[in-house]
Amino acid sequence: MTPVIRPRRLRSTPAMRRLTAETRLHPAELILPMFVREGLAAPREISSMPGVQQHTIDSLVRAAAEAAEAGIGGVMLFGVPAARDARGSAADDPDGILNAATRALAREVGDALVVQTDLCLDEFTDHGHCGVLAEAPDGGSPEVDNDATLDRYCAMALAQAEAGSALLGLSGMMDGQVAAVRSALDGAGFERTAILAYAAKYASAFYGPFREAVDSQLVGDRRGYQQDPANRREGLREAALDLDEGADIVMVKPAMSYLDVLADVAAMSPVPVWAYQVSGEVAMIEAAAANGWIDRRRVIEETVTGIRRAGADAVLSYFAVELAGWLK
Ligand code: PBG
Repeated sequence: MTPVIRPRRLRSTPAMRRLTAETRLHPAELILPMFVREGLAAPREISSMPGVQQHTIDSLVRAAAEAAEAGIGGVMLFGVPAARDARGSAADDPDGILNAATRALAREVGDALVVQTDLCLDEFTDHGHCGVLAEAPDGGSPEVDNDATLDRYCAMALAQAEAGSALLGLSGMMDGQVAAVRSALDGAGFERTAILAYAAKYASAFYGPFREAVDSQLVGDRRGYQQDPANRREGLREAALDLDEGADIVMVKPAMSYLDVLADVAAMSPVPVWAYQVSGEVAMIEAAAANGWIDRRRVIEETVTGIRRAGADAVLSYFAVELAGWLK
């Protein structure tokens, strides 16, 4: 048999492959998640994420300036406060670590890249949950109170917008959070502050190393508010709700185990769709690479390409700066 159709023709040379590639990576569509911790004398390594640090405000600004130099599109900031309480008071304190660091970033690098902030309470509560707790109606163990949490998110949103965050990352998975925050922002004159909705966020074991990165106090899990990994349609429903509520960008998280959800959302969304390559995805790559079991650079390029191919317009990745360097 002699084949007539020969797809290998388009794979025959590097020049041909380059010309016919359907997906290309560009630094501008990469966003670097960063951590800033209150009370640190010097940046501290996160053992489960080699190369990722908890920053001081000074080292954060320096690293963000390097990220801007590398040409990436933005940074997403997470804060680790020195003191926590049940309602996460440090989250909306204008001098709290996240807001203070945001102010510094907006001032120093706000023209070169988009300064974004995580809007969630889990780093700030002493119980580690993403919202405030209330007694369960049946007298069972306390659960996250959706509507009381919305009030806290609105207060956080105003503090972050005031500090200069250009894009608020709503990652708490409370019902109605986008509508609540949008209306709080608009009511205070922050019509220009945009909302990134973690539209489909799954209750994932891949967040493991992130818990170390933010010294999480969580006991138990987040299955009462984050989505069940078994559910695909539900991801579409969450995204549709967030779009109705006024999300400017919607995100799917984690990335690699949810590429079907990402493709579904990308097929219907009229706004940009992003995906988050989360801490556990990084840790797996680093651990396998450290053992010599995979080619680290090729796997990083392949995973981010796969996330883009599945439909993400931009990708949050801890590899953003390194990857941008390779793309130059
Ligand atoms: C919540 C939040 C989490 C992550 C981003 N935002 C943790 C969680 O939901 O448990 C995880 C990111 C990662 O694993 O890299 N503030």
